[in-house]
Amino acid sequence: MKKIKILLLLFVVVFSTQQSKSQSKIDPKEIKEKMEWFADAKLGIFIHSGIYSVKGIGESWSFHNKRISHADYMKQLNGFTLKNYNPAFWADLIKESGARYSVITTKHHDGVAMYDTKANTRSIVKASPAKRDMIKPFFEELRKRDIKCGAYFSLIDWSDNNYPGFLKDSSRYVIANDYDRWNRFRSFFQGQIKEINTLFKPDLWWFDGDWEHSAEEWESQKVRNIILSGNSKAIINGRLQGYGDYDTPEQNFPVSRPKFNWWELCMTTNENWGYQNDNNWKTPYEVITIFVDAVSNGGNLLLDMGPKEDGTIPEEQIHVFKELGAWNKKHGESIFNTVGGIPQGHFYGPTTLSKDSTSLYLFLHGHVSGTVMLKGLINKISNITVLGNGTEIKPKVVGKIDWSPVPGLVYIDVPENTNDKYITVLKVKLDSPIRLYRGQGGLN
Ligand code: GLC
Repeated sequence: MKKIKILLLLFVVVFSTQQSKSQSKIDPKEIKEKMEWFADAKLGIFIHSGIYSVKGIGESWSFHNKRISHADYMKQLNGFTLKNYNPAFWADLIKESGARYSVITTKHHDGVAMYDTKANTRSIVKASPAKRDMIKPFFEELRKRDIKCGAYFSLIDWSDNNYPGFLKDSSRYVIANDYDRWNRFRSFFQGQIKEINTLFKPDLWWFDGDWEHSAEEWESQKVRNIILSGNSKAIINGRLQGYGDYDTPEQNFPVSRPKFNWWELCMTTNENWGYQNDNNWKTPYEVITIFVDAVSNGGNLLLDMGPKEDGTIPEEQIHVFKELGAWNKKHGESIFNTVGGIPQGHFYGPTTLSKDSTSLYLFLHGHVSGTVMLKGLINKISNITVLGNGTEIKPKVVGKIDWSPVPGLVYIDVPENTNDKYITVLKVKLDSPIRLYRGQGGLN
């Protein structure tokens, strides 16, 4: 009994600290309008470009975790050339994937700026043969294609002498013992944020590494104000100790629908963010099922690419983006500008709804053909079509009792020859906005 009590207590403690961690200080009503494009966008492409691609080792973490010395890690600056960097090609590929926004590393935890910072000389412009800012031309190409621009910025800067954290088992100092030094770091990193805000005007800020310090230490509220005073519409991700606009689960996709108003799953295409000799690529089928899963649960997918030091993108990654794009082109209606689908239990698979909820989209994972079933649909169905194919399917309603308010089961027979290579989508057009029966099958 005692054991159970302790376990229960532990659960409550863990649960409540996690809750308070994700407690947002931001009122969703106040940001609703600016979040509109983000909610409709569904797909973003994340780019981890940095000097770690020279040796193909873990971005920043490799020296922090002592797999390589800091000095050797930084030597990669000498090999970072960007000699085949073609931002127009990148932007075309992102457009082709169907993504509506892209987020690029302006500075990772290693502290190397990918633009011409005036705050120090630790940048690819001043300290690498690339000698150029990679952010501005990329944002220009994105904007030409109507793709929103996001700036990833690591709050952690393990290379800066005024930053307390360094290697996993050693720090430079403790803030409480040297607040002046911490203040110097703060004005440095906040200065870089101001630079990026002025130079590139990101539509979205993607902070990372907030877990190393509190909101008070980072001055999260002030950071938020700096950004919003320069661009009141900018969206800020949730890694700012409670002062961001949306949540960012990483690599893990939800089993039940997250309670957040806005959220985005960030995920690698193989198993690493930056370029590495890693051939464990997710297949297009896997990426598309994960994407659909996120969207049907009301979220976005931020899918990563890790370019090489010369600016080229691995072929396998290009392949995944193109396949995803072709699928999006055919099925875009069921994804973009939709909202998350109906609760679990009505259909054994992911679903989305048109904004007016008169169209219900059913996603058939795993080459389903034959009969699928919809439960608890009160509406009349106007028609059912296979998206991108046009085939109309007549449903059969089974088990409807005249005098009972409980709706019948809708059986839909999906012909095999309408199957998509990856995921087939059925569009169920309804007579009016969707109404669902959620009862137990009885009369009350
Ligand atoms: C983690 C890692 C970082 C990576 C980020 C992307 O927070 O610290 O290396 O860039 O995830 O989401």
